[in-house]
Amino acid sequence: MDFKLEIAKKISGMVDMELEKIIDLIEIPPQSNMGDYAFPCFQLARVMRKSPNMIAKELSEKIDKDLIVDKAEAAGGYLNFFINKSEYTKYIINDVLEKGSAYGRQIGNEDKTVLVEFSSPNIAKPFHVGHMFNTVIGSSIEKVFRHLGYKTERLNHIGDYGTQFGKLISAYKRWGNEEAIDKDPINELLKIYVKFHEEAEKDEELEKEGRMYFKHLEKNNPDSVAIWQKFKDLSLREFKKLYNLLNIEFDSYAGESFYSDKMPEIIDMLYAKNLLVDSEGAKIVDLSEFNLPPCLVIKSDGATIYVTRDLAAALYRKRAYDFYKNVYVVGGTQTLHFKQVFGTLKLMGFEWADDCEHVGTALIKFADKKLSTRKGDVIFAKEVIDEAIVKTTEIIENKNPNLKNKELVAKQIGIGAIIYTFLKNSRERDVVFSWEESLSFEGESGPYVQYGYVRGNSILNKAGTINENADLSVLNTEDEFNLVKLLGSFKDALKESAERYEPFVITRYVTDLAKAYNKFYNTHHILNAEEKVKDARLLLTKAVCNVFKISLGILGMETPESM
Ligand code: ARG
Repeated sequence: MDFKLEIAKKISGMVDMELEKIIDLIEIPPQSNMGDYAFPCFQLARVMRKSPNMIAKELSEKIDKDLIVDKAEAAGGYLNFFINKSEYTKYIINDVLEKGSAYGRQIGNEDKTVLVEFSSPNIAKPFHVGHMFNTVIGSSIEKVFRHLGYKTERLNHIGDYGTQFGKLISAYKRWGNEEAIDKDPINELLKIYVKFHEEAEKDEELEKEGRMYFKHLEKNNPDSVAIWQKFKDLSLREFKKLYNLLNIEFDSYAGESFYSDKMPEIIDMLYAKNLLVDSEGAKIVDLSEFNLPPCLVIKSDGATIYVTRDLAAALYRKRAYDFYKNVYVVGGTQTLHFKQVFGTLKLMGFEWADDCEHVGTALIKFADKKLSTRKGDVIFAKEVIDEAIVKTTEIIENKNPNLKNKELVAKQIGIGAIIYTFLKNSRERDVVFSWEESLSFEGESGPYVQYGYVRGNSILNKAGTINENADLSVLNTEDEFNLVKLLGSFKDALKESAERYEPFVITRYVTDLAKAYNKFYNTHHILNAEEKVKDARLLLTKAVCNVFKISLGILGMETPESM
């Protein structure tokens, strides 16, 4: 039984407005003394030619107390509903416990496939914190959709194609040192790539050689392909170490090279639809209809580019997955690129271009400069993770030296702290990262939220067996009802998070849950309460822990057993 829906049905029986519309209009009042749900009567006023206050008053008189509603009161143009707390409490706690890890799932999404592309680093280049930010956001967005019952595919569109790989092959043939590369592949490849550019300034032959090897690559020359494959394998090996630390998996690593042989078809289609315009030898698509600058598809030397591969990739994805949504979680600096890709697809007549979505991400900045690396401006993701674990270990040694599984817990808290900081605000807002804030055990932080779960969980462990048939009507304090209402609003948080592609909605939700649970825990006895109350509070705690676990899981954070 969905209380909001039941209330909407009551209203719809009395006025001339569609149920869906009523559901949309129903709000949660800003203060709990104003009721649990409110229906604004302003829109009805126009149709009914009466003042909203009058309508609210008349409606309030027609609503009788029942199992759903305790009372309905008119306040100005609003009709405020006070729900039957005890029935609501029973319903929500039972619902959470019955559904378990599937609590919050929506029915009806099973046949819709949502593609979420995220991470997508370039091979032979370091994986820096910016990639990690994007990876953490994308992974969480995918989990939101998955939890809502959609079929999802996690795509890693690896950057593994382009003229730079011709140069890297040349550099490798000249200066590649197998042993060094095997030990620290990405830095070593970066080193010889930088050297290539330095040397190329002195010797023109190098550029030519680089171009030649890229041609070889394009023509599938086995020797060049083997070297390039090696770069790719080594890079993926390194990237996967990070993904493992973050507990992130992908369903596909099909990157730019995968689409290289799929470009001719797209180009043929563009020609057939007369969409390619000549511009000083290059081929462009005119996007003025969308108020966008033209999209360059083929360069004047005949070479294809990044855009060309994205066009081919989108069509491939539509055919392979018949997606409901095709979501690109990629840095906000590529906004124009994606507008051009989607605009071009639209001109090609692909209506599904409207189902493609660029979900932009902002930047990570560091408050304490101590973390800037030895090598210029980029900060490697691995360094941040390592440092988080070291710092967390220190904190544990100070606070709780006898903790069991210290190493595991340090990892869970340290990585959780970074993830929380990354997902705390809108993905479009730059993150100013500070260790002090991230690793604080108080206030809004990963450790604070994890601690909420740990507390609840340890009470459940201490209690041993739990009376599953406890009488929940004894839960009648405001702190308890606040928790119940939060449990009930988890579905709304999920829905909002999916609609806006914003994991922070879940972060905010789980933080509110931790605050409410702490308040409850600090104000009321649980294990020491009298039997009936204890039983009910344990069931409430169990429901809260379940929702903690689900929400933290969606963010990609772990739930330590103790800390
Ligand atoms: N590899 C690119 C980069 O690091 C991001 C790829 C984004 N995805 C895409 N389909 N274009 O900038």
